[in-house]
Amino acid sequence: VIGSRQWILARRPRGPVQAGDFALREEAVFEPGEGEAVAATRWLSFEPAMRGWLDDAPDRWGRTAGVAAPGYGVTVDVGEVVKGPAVAEVVASRRPDLHPGDLVRGLFGWREHVSLGTGAGFQRLDPSVPVPVALGVLGGTGLTAYMGIVSVGSAVAGETVVVSGAAGAVGSVAGQIARIRGCRVIGIAGGAEKRRWLLEACRFDEVVDYKAEDVAVRLRQLCPDSIDVYFDNVGGPALEAAIANMAVHGRIVLCGLVSSYDSARDGTSPGGPGNLFHLIARRVSMQGYLLSDYADRLPEAAAWLRDREAAGELAHREDIAEGFEQAPAAFLRLFSGANQGKQLLRL
Ligand SMILES: NC(=O)c1ccc[n+]([C@@H]2O[C@H](COP(=O)([O-])OP(=O)(O)OC[C@H]3O[C@@H](n4cnc5c(N)ncnc54)[C@H](OP(=O)(O)O)[C@@H]3O)[C@@H](O)[C@H]2O)c1
Repeated sequence: VIGSRQWILARRPRGPVQAGDFALREEAVFEPGEGEAVAATRWLSFEPAMRGWLDDAPDRWGRTAGVAAPGYGVTVDVGEVVKGPAVAEVVASRRPDLHPGDLVRGLFGWREHVSLGTGAGFQRLDPSVPVPVALGVLGGTGLTAYMGIVSVGSAVAGETVVVSGAAGAVGSVAGQIARIRGCRVIGIAGGAEKRRWLLEACRFDEVVDYKAEDVAVRLRQLCPDSIDVYFDNVGGPALEAAIANMAVHGRIVLCGLVSSYDSARDGTSPGGPGNLFHLIARRVSMQGYLLSDYADRLPEAAAWLRDREAAGELAHREDIAEGFEQAPAAFLRLFSGANQGKQLLRL
């Protein structure tokens, strides 16, 4: 028997999530029984949508209608271990299919050890791919970006593509996929350092620093009424500014709305853009999507990303926090914009 720590939800966040919303708890981990394995968590991976899992606002996340989408219907109760993607290494096994040293990935949560019984959901990791890359540009992050640009947005050469949350894990890959496809790419991101990285490493054509510049004014200058595809990770004022400048028959790809995830104190929805009439006047489509809808295209997307990454054509960075006790702090970085690329934590 060994002692092992977990992070539990101590109280529901009211407004911006805080470190005090979480608490550490000890549990005992036992030798695996017949048909079980025990794995030690090596990595945690953080996504902004996990903020919604902590809310008690079912309408906002589409649960009451009974049509909760995979990944968005997850809930964490007060006192429960915080759910989240993780990579763990098998340390003891009485399962024929798992051996010490095997790396597995799953929605294991913020815990130092995970028990893998017969019903446990996990996938194996390819040992030849570094874990941060497997969790980032070659994982759900890159695949989400690919589906949004290629399948949902259908961005083609010569078009103008604007990406918000552009220096983030998904946004930076989305913009580069559009650039490789021959599009003119404009990013929206917060801060001079992120702007420089997008211009120099990711080779975006233009970047608007929304913390220093007026996004509506800058988009009007850079792409007046000529955005063919707007890939949105953020919502809020950036979405309204993009709507105002969509081209006729433009496409808005709704990947995420991070500016609203952390702000609902009472579970109500934040207000939407006030200029939706532009969508009618310019015959613009706006489509939300989930990576899980595109299972049949994943092999094609994974192969494309793998080849480009191996050829050094896709810049990416991972922001790696150290130590299990830093899990809440690492998660909070997504909402202050402190993270530079895919936010991970190494145990
Ligand atoms: N549809 C899907 O299947 C799917 C799958 C995965 C992820 N997503 C969505 O994709 C988006 C990006 O996720 P990610 O994992 O790549 O995270 P990320 O972009 O690496 O990190 C979040 C970033 O959001 C920006 N941000 C935070 N609060 C903001 C605010 N109030 N206004 C404007 N920007 C804000 C910050 O960048 P700045 O420094 O630039 O502010 C921060 O670095 C999220 O909305 C997520 O929910 C969707």
